[in-house]
Amino acid sequence: MRAVLVENPGDESRLVLGEFDTPHPAENELLVRVHATALNRADLLQRSGKYPVPKGASPLLGLEMAGVVEEVGSGCSGWSVGDRVFGLLPGGGYAEFATIPQEIAMPIPEAFSFEEAAAIPEVFLTAYQALVWLGELKEGEDILIHAGASGVGTAAIQLAKEIGARIWVTASKPKHKLCITLGAQGAIDYKSEDFVERINTLTQEKGVNLIIDFLGASYLSKNIECLGLDGRLVMLALMGGARVDSLNLATLFRKRIHLKASTLRNRSLAYKVALTKAFNDDFGTSLGKGLIKPIIDSIYDWSEVAKAHNRMAANLNAGKIVLKVT
Ligand SMILES: NC(=O)c1ccc[n+]([C@@H]2O[C@H](COP(=O)([O-])OP(=O)(O)OC[C@H]3O[C@@H](n4cnc5c(N)ncnc54)[C@H](OP(=O)(O)O)[C@@H]3O)[C@@H](O)[C@H]2O)c1
Repeated sequence: MRAVLVENPGDESRLVLGEFDTPHPAENELLVRVHATALNRADLLQRSGKYPVPKGASPLLGLEMAGVVEEVGSGCSGWSVGDRVFGLLPGGGYAEFATIPQEIAMPIPEAFSFEEAAAIPEVFLTAYQALVWLGELKEGEDILIHAGASGVGTAAIQLAKEIGARIWVTASKPKHKLCITLGAQGAIDYKSEDFVERINTLTQEKGVNLIIDFLGASYLSKNIECLGLDGRLVMLALMGGARVDSLNLATLFRKRIHLKASTLRNRSLAYKVALTKAFNDDFGTSLGKGLIKPIIDSIYDWSEVAKAHNRMAANLNAGKIVLKVT
């Protein structure tokens, strides 16, 4: 089959369309002819040799896909050749064919194109896990979502709105309108404003109940300042570094703060199955009705994968960058 290969880890010029062995569906797996996949920051890291592939996963890039069932593995039930299907992958989405365990495969809602469906799994499941399972967000609470216009951010805003939270985001100025349209009450330009000051004013000095963070070290002290009593901080990435020079733990005690860090990719299949099911139970209807939807920044043919990676690396995207597998 054809697939996007990384010739040697490095910049986007190392991405080439080439040949790779077609995967075979194991027991309880579906073989899918991929029509679309979508970019994630992890792809950029893996391409550069900075993200080791989890054991047993395809070495190809691509953490999600949408397509059509080509073959049904033994032990599968409820799936037929020709069904439209989408879901999370541990790797292997940048290819003509991918295999997916039937329990995490989801039927594509009728209203969604392949490109729209491919833009859903990674960011919505990550946002759902962060807001609901880890962050325990409740109606009426205040949440601060950093990188509000990112793929995960745009999914998180929509889920938080459905939950009934008051939503504040940080994002660069040109991306504020999108965040507000999706349901944020206010957007803070982190490049020109002090987000700690703004959050304290916006919450009448109470602080927020939950923060979804992607920056890590560079934001840790500021995030702790923004949290209210019993506040939760869910860290999903380290775009601002991993090492903290100094931290006064007394504030954590005074505010009874919970710190959590998580990655989705290296979770067990059983965890991903349970997460997918819980997301569908809680938000499947909203998704089917279009109340929550993938926000697509741009769609590239996969022959332009280098351009797509460049756009993400330059922080130009608002929402998801999708690749059409043609
Ligand atoms: N832990 C997990 O399970 C998990 C799962 C999925 C993704 N992630 C991580 O979550 C992050 C977001 O992923 P994504 O795919 O949604 O990313 P994305 O769509 O590429 O968006 C990232 C955005 O973050 C903002 N940003 C970048 N550097 C920044 C900085 N130094 N300070 C403040 N904001 C900055 C930029 O927007 P502005 O223009 O607003 O600055 C950028 O567009 C990535 O780091 C990804 O690896 C983690």
